[in-house]
Amino acid sequence: MIDLLDGGRLEGIGRFWLAPMAGITDAPFRTIAHRRGAELVFTEMISAEALVRRNRNTLSMLEPSLDCGRWGVQLVGSDPKTVADAARMAEAKGASIIDINMGCPVPKVVAHKAGAALLREPQLVAEIVGSVRRAVSVPVSVKLRAGWRAPKVDAFEIARIAEAEGTDLIALHPRFADENYSTPARWELIAELKARLKVPVAGSGDVMSEAAAVRMIEETGCDVVLIARGALGDPWIFERARALLARGTSSPKPSPEERLRTFVEHLNLALEVWSEDVALHRMKKHLMWYSSGLAGSRRFRKMVSGCGDLKSLASMAERFFAEAKDGA
Ligand SMILES: Cc1cc2nc3c(=O)[nH]c(=O)nc-3n(C[C@H](O)[C@H](O)[C@H](O)COP(=O)(O)O)c2cc1C
Repeated sequence: MIDLLDGGRLEGIGRFWLAPMAGITDAPFRTIAHRRGAELVFTEMISAEALVRRNRNTLSMLEPSLDCGRWGVQLVGSDPKTVADAARMAEAKGASIIDINMGCPVPKVVAHKAGAALLREPQLVAEIVGSVRRAVSVPVSVKLRAGWRAPKVDAFEIARIAEAEGTDLIALHPRFADENYSTPARWELIAELKARLKVPVAGSGDVMSEAAAVRMIEETGCDVVLIARGALGDPWIFERARALLARGTSSPKPSPEERLRTFVEHLNLALEVWSEDVALHRMKKHLMWYSSGLAGSRRFRKMVSGCGDLKSLASMAERFFAEAKDGA
């Protein structure tokens, strides 16, 4: 792998990573993203407390049953010892990096002083990061929102503390905790954070194309680009971004044939780790995303949503992409 970062613990870890997405970045999707060029892939956020309690479903999120290359585990929690114990478990499972979620705005999470609530708890951040840092030898990162409420950018102070406690990378999704996607991500805050810190910075937000991924690096100077929504139905975005950065050109968007091939590969990975029922439930939304942008995809999505078994789902997909190909 090419060394793209400025030395230190994260050497050679690449520039385009799959961002954590709850309910989405499970092992099959991480594997697909890895095979399509993501240089590191994150789990969805995992409750440190549930992990330490050995909750069966939560433990299964940590199961590295498929080869998804370098993978990071994102933990959410607020008790320093619990998060450190969970980090140890993640390291033992082979995680390449442990990220601590300091951006999730969901009320159930912030009520426990976790996620975005930590943006207002500098002392607790120091304790959590310090205890995780001491617990594991793999790199540790934190993923922040810009702040709790505009206009106060809490991320700068929190990042400074996290850096002082030994964090190896700071990721920033530059929206405030009460903002949704209708507010554009403030990339200028990523640039400012980068200028303030010594450790590498990962930017997140509104990277929906390879052009945007490369532009984020150029405009902000960030070391890593985290891609979330832009990878849904388009895991090829990682190889296109890498090609664009390295050579200045990238391949066209995938053909309907390639989308079908990838959907089938993804479905087979899902069947390696889940029952047919779970695979059906999880793969329906991916199939809808794989179809997006093609003629007739809106009608197709309705059909997919009403589909009750995997066999029908697979033949539905075959028909749709074959017709999309003919019509292309
Ligand atoms: C469905 C969904 C689930 C998400 N879950 C998480 C999560 O578990 N942890 C986290 O730090 N961010 C989570 N995010 C935020 C993304 O990682 C990312 O920071 C944000 O979507 C902005 O990037 P994008 O514009 O590339 O989507 C989630 C985003 C989406 C769309």
